Amino acid sequence: MSEVKMFSGAQIPLEMHKVRVVQKLNLLPVEERGKAIAEAGNNTFLLRNRDVFLDMLTDSGVNAMSDRQTASMMIADDSYAGSETFYRLEDKIHELFGTKFFLPAHQGRACESILAEAFVKPGDVVPMNFHFTTSKAHVTRVGGSVEELVIDEGRVPESDFPFKGNIDLDKLKECIDRVGAEHIPFVRLEAGTNLIGGQPFSLENLKATSAMAHAAGIPVVLDASLMQDNLYFIKTREAACRDMSIRAITREMCAQADIIYFSARKLGFARGGGIAMFNRTYYEQMKDFIPLFEGFLTYGGMSVREMEAMTVGLEETMDMDVISQGPQFIEFMVDELKKRGVPVITPAGGLGCHINARKFLDHVDAHAYPAAALAAATFIAGGVRGMERGTLSEQREPDGTEPIASMELLRLALPRRVFTMSQVLYAVDRISWLYENRRLVGGLNFVEEPATLRFFFGRLEPIGDWQQRLIAKFREDFGDSL
Ligand code: F0G
Repeated sequence: MSEVKMFSGAQIPLEMHKVRVVQKLNLLPVEERGKAIAEAGNNTFLLRNRDVFLDMLTDSGVNAMSDRQTASMMIADDSYAGSETFYRLEDKIHELFGTKFFLPAHQGRACESILAEAFVKPGDVVPMNFHFTTSKAHVTRVGGSVEELVIDEGRVPESDFPFKGNIDLDKLKECIDRVGAEHIPFVRLEAGTNLIGGQPFSLENLKATSAMAHAAGIPVVLDASLMQDNLYFIKTREAACRDMSIRAITREMCAQADIIYFSARKLGFARGGGIAMFNRTYYEQMKDFIPLFEGFLTYGGMSVREMEAMTVGLEETMDMDVISQGPQFIEFMVDELKKRGVPVITPAGGLGCHINARKFLDHVDAHAYPAAALAAATFIAGGVRGMERGTLSEQREPDGTEPIASMELLRLALPRRVFTMSQVLYAVDRISWLYENRRLVGGLNFVEEPATLRFFFGRLEPIGDWQQRLIAKFREDFGDSL
């Protein structure tokens, strides 16, 4: 968004777009919200969308598309093989990333699955700034393990460090020396590091990481799913990049990697994904998996309409007015919550606003899933659907012990260009009410616990009658308000 000064001196994020298509929303009374979350096993993934007022579960596949993206879908070339739409997408990716080869895949985790199949052997270690749930699950699925080498500040909830997603270079050196380069198939760097609050890395850190990995003969894989936010932060927070265009920063970032993959449910404002690379050998190592698991090489499981929209969306990602909407709205929400004393991850990152559930519910035991309890309570308080990003999202160890997540977060995603400022302020209001009443909120217990990715389907129940008491307090404070 462009710098627009208000006469009042207030700083507000100002949209550089107008809304031309809308969807009606429904806000259930608090008693029905209580029933809906109980029916969903206290898992916000299992709620039905018709019961949700503000869906802040994720920014994945739910960002608003532009008029140009929608229009482009009409000229998509429907063909199993050789679609012109594919070649337009491929050309755009090579133009922006500087790459030479591209494999389409239906979404980000499909790319992760193929990378794991092609490169990771049992006993291998994949160093990362931080894991993402699906990236870790695919590495461990084929017998590898993950080491998280994010700088210590990355795990500090409240900080003013601008690049909390940076890799700690000393830790990387130690890891390579200890494990041996031959057991490290690649170093994975995640832009806009998701699970620590959408925190970026700097271009300087990316360059240093890449130089260290390459010196040891280890390839670098860039997860560019949240690159649009990372681009904004490099441009606004990294002094050396202030005068660079978004296009130039994109090129420079990609030039540090050997393989770049992304979820186009995030990057490109559409639905899909892909893997781009500079080197034919890697292409050949992965190519055969595409028709096996995804679809033919010129669609990779995606609809041609989505591919066409992605091509336009990737180009629009080069526009600072487009990519600043997310970070600026998120910063606004974080600041408003901070003013009301609510513990939030700082500095504000990309993706969404992240509440520090460990601090918010410091009376709830770590094994009673404070962030999941806060997600259920936030839904009851306002029909706002967030996502648990903490211990519940971890996998149990092979011996059954439950690791406690280093960060216990409730993520309230802000899909780009979807919510208005008044909706954000409503969410802030309900969360600050909940904060005032936080002692009413208790923990959760598993009723059904799946073995993998348990946060998706697991069902839980409240410990005690805290949800009834929360609903009664809501009625007392808000009268007959929804
Ligand atoms: N990498 C990152 C950094 C992600 O945030 C995601 C998805 C993926 C890979 C996997 O991509 O969903 O297209 O298969 N993140 C979503 C989220 C699910 O809600 O944060 P996918």
